[in-house]
Amino acid sequence: MTRDIAIDLGTANTLVYQKGRGILFSEPTVLALNKENGSVLAMGDEAWRMIGRTPGYIVAVRPLRSGAISDFDVTQKLIRLILQRAGIGRMSKPRVLIVVPSALTEVERRAVEEAALSAGARSCHLIEEPMAAAIGAGLPIHEPMGNLVVDVGGGTSEVAVISLGGIVTNAAVRIGGFDLDGAIQSYVRREYTIAIGERTAEQIKFAIGSAFPLAREEKAEIRGRDLATGLPKNVLVTSEELREAMREHIASIVGSVLDCISASPPDLVQDVLTNGITLTGGGGMLRGLDQLLAQEAEVPVHITDQPLESVVLGAGQCLESWRDLRSVFAGA
Ligand SMILES: Nc1ncnc2c1ncn2[C@@H]1O[C@H](COP(=O)(O)OP(=O)(O)O)[C@@H](O)[C@H]1O
Ligand SMILES: [Mg+2]
Repeated sequence: MTRDIAIDLGTANTLVYQKGRGILFSEPTVLALNKENGSVLAMGDEAWRMIGRTPGYIVAVRPLRSGAISDFDVTQKLIRLILQRAGIGRMSKPRVLIVVPSALTEVERRAVEEAALSAGARSCHLIEEPMAAAIGAGLPIHEPMGNLVVDVGGGTSEVAVISLGGIVTNAAVRIGGFDLDGAIQSYVRREYTIAIGERTAEQIKFAIGSAFPLAREEKAEIRGRDLATGLPKNVLVTSEELREAMREHIASIVGSVLDCISASPPDLVQDVLTNGITLTGGGGMLRGLDQLLAQEAEVPVHITDQPLESVVLGAGQCLESWRDLRSVFAGA
C-alpha cells in the first residue's frame, strides 16, 4: 500500500513522516561522496560516522549547507536514498511533500522537485519551513491573527509572521547552529591555539553554551590539538567565553526577528505582543536564547515541545488533512 511521505529536508537533519504512521526516521543531512567517481556512498548516520575518519577521496558533504543541492545529481541521490529508507520502491509511488528552507533558490527548489519525481514520487509539493513549523507547533494559522514563528536550524534561521493561512512577512539569515560551532572553533584557535573539530565544538555548545547570562556560570574542559606542537592539549573554557564567542551570530539571529516584527502590519504586531513568539528548531534549544529574544523583542517567548520534530510533524499534519491544508503549500 502506498502511503504519502513528508520530508523535512533541514540543513542539519532530515526527518521523514509517513501518513498514518508518524515519524519514520531522523538522520543528519550528510552524504558521503566518492570524489573520484562522484558516487554517493551513504547518507545520514552512516555518512556522519565517516567524517574525519575516511580516506582522502571519500568526502562528507552537507548538501543543503554547501549549496550542493543545486547539483542535480547529488540532490537526486539524496532524495532517492531518503525514499529508499522510507521503503519506497519501484512499485509504490507516494505523494511527497518536502519542507524546504525559504532561503532555497528557485533553481534549488526545482532540483528538489525533479529529484523527487525521478526518484519515484507520484507528485511532489513543497512547503516553506516556517509554515510547517507553525502548523507543527499547533498555532492557529488560519485565523486572522498574527503568529510569529522563529525556527533556528543548523545553517539557517527563519522568521515568519503567519496569518490567514499565509506568510505575511518573513526574514531569514543563513546563520544557525553550525555557525555557532564554527565561532567556538575559531575562538579556541585564537585564544588557546588549539584546533578542535566541529563535533567537539557542538558538544561543548550543548554542555555549557548559552545566549543569556546563567544564574551560575559554568566551565568545561576541551581537548584539542595544540597548533604549535601538534600534540593533544586540554584547556578549560567558561560559559561566558563561549557566549562572547557566539555573540555576533546570535545578534544576527535576534536582529532578523526584530526586522520581521518591524516589517509587519501593526495589527499583526499587536497580536504577537499579546500571544508571544514561538521558538523552534534545534538551535532554539540553545540555553537562554528564549530569554534573550524575550528581552530584545519585549515579547514573551515559548519554545515548542519538540523543537527538532515540529517541522516534520507540521508537514505530516498536512498529509493527514490534505484537503484542509494544501492551500498553504508553496506556490499553491
Ligand atoms: N540543546 C541544544 N542546544 C543548542 N543547540 C542545539 C541543541 N540541540 C540541537 N542544537 C543545534 O540545532 C541544530 C540543528 O537543528 P535542526 O532544527 O535539526 O536544523 P535544520 O532544520 O537546519 O536541519 C544544530 O546546529 C545543533 O547543534
Ligand atoms: Mg529545520
